[in-house]
Amino acid sequence: MGALSSLAWALWYILPAYFANGSPVLFGGGRPIDGGRLWKDGKRLLGDGKTWRGFFGGVGTGTLIGLLQYFFTPSFYGSIGSALILAFLLSFGALFGDLVGSFIKRRLDLPRGYPAVGLDQLGFLISAMVFAYPVKTISSGQMLFLLVFTPLLHWGTNYLAYRMGWKSVPW
Ligand code: CTP
Ligand code: MG
Repeated sequence: MGALSSLAWALWYILPAYFANGSPVLFGGGRPIDGGRLWKDGKRLLGDGKTWRGFFGGVGTGTLIGLLQYFFTPSFYGSIGSALILAFLLSFGALFGDLVGSFIKRRLDLPRGYPAVGLDQLGFLISAMVFAYPVKTISSGQMLFLLVFTPLLHWGTNYLAYRMGWKSVPW
């Protein structure tokens, strides 16, 4: 594998996590996952930015992306089942990491939507890679590339979502 194609494969690998993380902004809303409940510190457990619709919409979207990916590069996945399992784990991991991030943000008394540099851009990514690791691995170099590239993509796409009117803040 050439260096460039190795980076491209890393992006192809992580694509479901990106879609899972980004799609809730479109169909999130409704009942928050924490049901409005407070933690011991009197602050919200997760906050109104984490909803069931956003969570399952994100997991569904990411898993669907994996299904599409399988038809483009079947040999990368081996079978349609492995492609679906990988995409599901990447998506579930991404949304789970996103919840952990919000839990931490609420404990730090940061209001919903307030930026937490590092946590917002990397929490979902690291969690997605951990969940997917048992099913399909990438090299440490590819992981490092994703850790550097993802924050740049995150800022770029959030700014775009803000300009499109999908988000109220550009981060
Ligand atoms: N969203 C959702 N459900 C999720 C994740 C996200 O409905 N599980 C939607 C919410 O409308 C949220 C938007 O996607 O406002 C952007 O997601 P994110 O930036 O992760 O949430 P924030 O509003 O910034 O909240 P937090 O401060 O908790 O990160
Ligand atoms: Mg946010």
